[in-house]
Amino acid sequence: MKKIKDFIPVCNAYLDGNEKKYVLDCLDTGWISSAGKYVKEFENRFAEYCGCKYAVAVTSGTAALHIALSSLGIKKGDEVIIPSFTMIACAFAVCYTGAKPVFVDVDKDTWNIDCSKIESKITSKTKAIMPVHIFGNPCDMKAVMKIAKKHKLHIIEDCAEAHGAEYYGKKAGSFSSIAAFSFFANKNLTTGEGGMVVTNNKKYYDRCRYFRNMCYSLDKPRTYEHDDIGFNYRMTNLQAAVGLAQIEKADFYRTLRINNNKIYRKYLKNVEGISFQKDEKNSLNVCWMNAILIDKEKYGKTKKELVQYLKDNNVDTRLLFTGMHKQKSLKNYGCSMLGKYENTDKLTADGLYLPSSANLKESEIRHICGLIADFKDK
Ligand SMILES: Cc1ncc(COP(=O)(O)O)c(C=O)c1O
Repeated sequence: MKKIKDFIPVCNAYLDGNEKKYVLDCLDTGWISSAGKYVKEFENRFAEYCGCKYAVAVTSGTAALHIALSSLGIKKGDEVIIPSFTMIACAFAVCYTGAKPVFVDVDKDTWNIDCSKIESKITSKTKAIMPVHIFGNPCDMKAVMKIAKKHKLHIIEDCAEAHGAEYYGKKAGSFSSIAAFSFFANKNLTTGEGGMVVTNNKKYYDRCRYFRNMCYSLDKPRTYEHDDIGFNYRMTNLQAAVGLAQIEKADFYRTLRINNNKIYRKYLKNVEGISFQKDEKNSLNVCWMNAILIDKEKYGKTKKELVQYLKDNNVDTRLLFTGMHKQKSLKNYGCSMLGKYENTDKLTADGLYLPSSANLKESEIRHICGLIADFKDK
């Protein structure tokens, strides 16, 4: 088959600012470990961007979730509520502490945790709720906060996919005891690999710094006496240099992703059988990925067929997450797999995401949408 276009990947990092300049500075000065100046500068800028007092840079979003949970004292015997439709890192981070993740299905429209189903999963062991702003769409944090307050639970926001997202005009990450971000290369802001914890609470901030660096004493760092088991989750100066350059242009990158989503919606508006995520009320969805659902009756083709057709035409896609209640690893760990997770199952069965790099051209999106529209009638 003749290839009409060059390969369009599902997501490329967009490094459009001072990334190279700052990384070269690290190399020129030799400051390549976590001790360099960019780590603190990146943390300060990131905390400010989120409207939070403190930030702690780490090696990944998973590590950020792990030290966030650890700093709250989550441990063996505890339960943490997470959505069933999410990336496995949420569940794994809970498991690392010895606690058990408990799953709640997501809303069929927003694809975020269904708040009306949270309370039925709360037990005497529940210590926290972890809402995930899925694909950049902020959760209904008012509802989550009401439940958390009533049952005296912590909230750990998973903002891995939601840099700069807003809910009632406030940034994602500022609604909870502590929140975690990822900077993996496909994220709205990236450091290649990396993560960040943000909080307004000095105690949690200190605990996170303590756990990040092998539980060295924060007061006497040069002593080799460790009261707890710690981790090496330190972000390097090289990564933070990229991160600082990214945060300097955070609103620009955010606008590009949001615009891409608008363009996808415009060109797919009249294609029957294709639907998008619905924005949470009073929120700004930062559209990390352009995910669509295929109604095979109306569209006339299955998701699998569409994925293959797009692949044949040099367009990359990804499947949506498999539900937590279907994960063998979590079953073996002792999580309850009982119950129905119909909306999660539907997303897994019918969903895929389309190329979503910040710097996609409108012509590329039009081309992808044209392929999707043409394939319906083939
Ligand atoms: C919702 C969610 N949480 C956590 C993570 C983990 O982040 P990382 O890959 O940086 O460990 C991801 C990563 O894609 C994610 O999408």
